[in-house]
Amino acid sequence: MRLIDLRSDTFTLPTKEMMDSIQSAELGDDVEKEDPTVNQLQEMSADMFGAEGALLVTSGTMGNLVSLMTHCRRGDEVFLESEAHIYYYELGGVSALVGAIPRLIKGNGGKFSPEQLEASIRHQDLHYPIPSLVCIENTHNRAGGTVWTPREVEEVSKVAHDHGLKVHCDGARIFNAAVALDVDVKEYMRHLDSITFCLSKGLSCPIGSVVVGNSEFIEGVTRARKMVGGGMRQAGVVAAPGVVALQNMIGRLKEDHRNARRMAEGLNDIPGISVDLDTVQTNIVLADITGTGWDVDYFVNRACKIGVQVFEFGATKARFVTHYGIDEQDVDDALARLRRLLER
Ligand SMILES: Cc1ncc(COP(=O)(O)O)c(C=O)c1O
Repeated sequence: MRLIDLRSDTFTLPTKEMMDSIQSAELGDDVEKEDPTVNQLQEMSADMFGAEGALLVTSGTMGNLVSLMTHCRRGDEVFLESEAHIYYYELGGVSALVGAIPRLIKGNGGKFSPEQLEASIRHQDLHYPIPSLVCIENTHNRAGGTVWTPREVEEVSKVAHDHGLKVHCDGARIFNAAVALDVDVKEYMRHLDSITFCLSKGLSCPIGSVVVGNSEFIEGVTRARKMVGGGMRQAGVVAAPGVVALQNMIGRLKEDHRNARRMAEGLNDIPGISVDLDTVQTNIVLADITGTGWDVDYFVNRACKIGVQVFEFGATKARFVTHYGIDEQDVDDALARLRRLLER
């Protein structure tokens, strides 16, 4: 029985072209900025986003960490949506390593409004931490891959900038957002001070993320990356698949989105499972399984036994993610297996 792995787009394997690109990559010492393949990836990234510079880092977590280290001083206040990945899944690095204090804003579909941000920023007072940064997440993982529009980013960023705060986007899946709305990523970047995007999720690279911003910011994140041990030497072996990904893997994300919708609609037809279709905007499907009468761990275990791998997502939901390793037939097979399982 073929395993259908819907746990995450982080399980994607590199394409043959990516593996070949590693073999033939021109290499140098990237700490000395002498790796031509890393330089190529960084220049391509900066161009795509219409920014002055870009920096390769090992992971999305490192990209967010070095961005926050660059934007904030110790004791500063950072505004985040209450279920932001940076807050929820990055081991408290925002406090432990950056030394900042998170201020959470409860969003709707992973997004907060300009009015909510305005109401959260306090006037300067000797007793208050200094507010320095707003973070948004696009697409928003815990909300189910929901998308910020460029207009929404513009409005929130305007409030932040009017108060002298910077805006960072955790754009691990920014290309999913851009493809879903058919907009250029530059339309986001022009309202942002920095963004992290991941090569190793929907774009299928084995390793790597990229941080994008202006030259001064890139100088800062380069120092922060070195401090946390992320200065890599012949990192062209990591960058080469990234170049392939930026050239070939973005357009196909549409397919993942189509498959996610197919999965969501099919799940909704299975008695006991329900999906809020409004939240299915990209490649993530959150399915409420309360109606099956099973608890989530049991559901995930039983699904795994019939070759459908999903992640548990809180007390009542399972998460299904479509990606390069999943085609329409896999979606239909997974649905048929789950239907049979629940009819028994
Ligand atoms: C929204 C978001 N940000 C950041 C990350 C962290 O990326 P990494 O696993 O490469 O550290 C993830 C990983 O799933 C994510 O979903």
